[in-house]
Amino acid sequence: MPNYDESKVPRFELPSILKFRGMNVTSAFQWVNHGRSKILELYRKEVFGKWLPRPDRISFETISRRDDALEGRAIRKEIRITLAMNDGRSHCANMLLYVPRNAPKPPPVFLSNCFKGYHTITDEKDVLLSGGNWSGNPDFNDETRGTFAGRGDFRDIVDRGYASAAVCLHDWFPDHPAGWGESALNLFGDFSKMEGTHAEYTAIGTWAWGLSRMLDVLECEPLVDASRAMVCGHSRLGKTALWAGANDPRFRMVISNDSGCGGAALSKRCFGETVEIITGGFPHWFVKAFHQYRNNEAALPFDQHFLLSLIAPRPLCVASASEDLWADPKGEFLGAYYAGEVYRLFGSDGLGLAKPEPPAVDVFHTADVSYHNRSGEHNITPVDWKHYMDVADRLWEC
Ligand code: GCU
Repeated sequence: MPNYDESKVPRFELPSILKFRGMNVTSAFQWVNHGRSKILELYRKEVFGKWLPRPDRISFETISRRDDALEGRAIRKEIRITLAMNDGRSHCANMLLYVPRNAPKPPPVFLSNCFKGYHTITDEKDVLLSGGNWSGNPDFNDETRGTFAGRGDFRDIVDRGYASAAVCLHDWFPDHPAGWGESALNLFGDFSKMEGTHAEYTAIGTWAWGLSRMLDVLECEPLVDASRAMVCGHSRLGKTALWAGANDPRFRMVISNDSGCGGAALSKRCFGETVEIITGGFPHWFVKAFHQYRNNEAALPFDQHFLLSLIAPRPLCVASASEDLWADPKGEFLGAYYAGEVYRLFGSDGLGLAKPEPPAVDVFHTADVSYHNRSGEHNITPVDWKHYMDVADRLWEC
């Protein structure tokens, strides 16, 4: 049973990032040249798996374009991405892209993976169905069109001058324990018989790597400024956005919305979802080594502030929802707070709060590391998006 009682949170000492396993990092110089790669390696070995290489070839093709999308506000493209290996193996994914139509210059771009299929996150009914790489995707049909469009209206994003690109997670790795056989991992080996937990690769790692491949393509897209790319994700895709940002420094800002266990929330608190519950429910998300901490969080030599610290010194947004106790809002806040140990090496204050006390619900705390706890349930909403765009404005307008 998950614990939701703050008084039952075990006592624990949070490991220092900079002193991990005998290190003694005291400067940004040491962190960039030495410490950071140790922590990244730790996370690859014990949590999200190896970072895949680029495929031998990446090509892309515009499969639809409208210059009058969203009542004339936007140019909309659907782009088919093909990843190919010299031995003939290939893997495709479809990307939906919205760009403000009258942008004075190529705008910054938000990249995200989405659940179910991108036809569910836009209310424009003439996009293709997406997420079809999972042959059993129950949402690959017309009935689901627009069902998640309320999570963030593309109109709000293009009206604020930003572009937005999305690929369905199933196109990289179908989100179920036997999804390996239809995943992009098959570019690099034979995963057709694989099920459950692997020692070296994960679904989250593959989704995150997919975000980097989207960025490869956007770097060739003249409509957007890919040097101002921001990665965003909700829930399991919030964990994914953090991992993408940790591995790929081209993501200049990282947004973790309600990422919870395995994302921003400290595991040692054992509040809400735990390592045991998540690895049991989603065996394909984490490597085998992470399973040693099931019911054994005290043995973790690290915690999720380590993951967040890999984003430093770039802007990071961590968000919770007040009713989303499963994701442990306080634990998410503390993850963000303690990542400050690394931000401070760069002369940044991180969250810039003197004490580890979360701001009140619906206070949108904005700093180099931003945090808010929106009232309501587990979700990403236009209210969250408004804040992310405010933070983005702060970054790009300076
Ligand atoms: C489940 C899972 C969470 C995850 C969430 C989601 O609730 O336990 O870890 O974040 O799904 O992705 O919606």
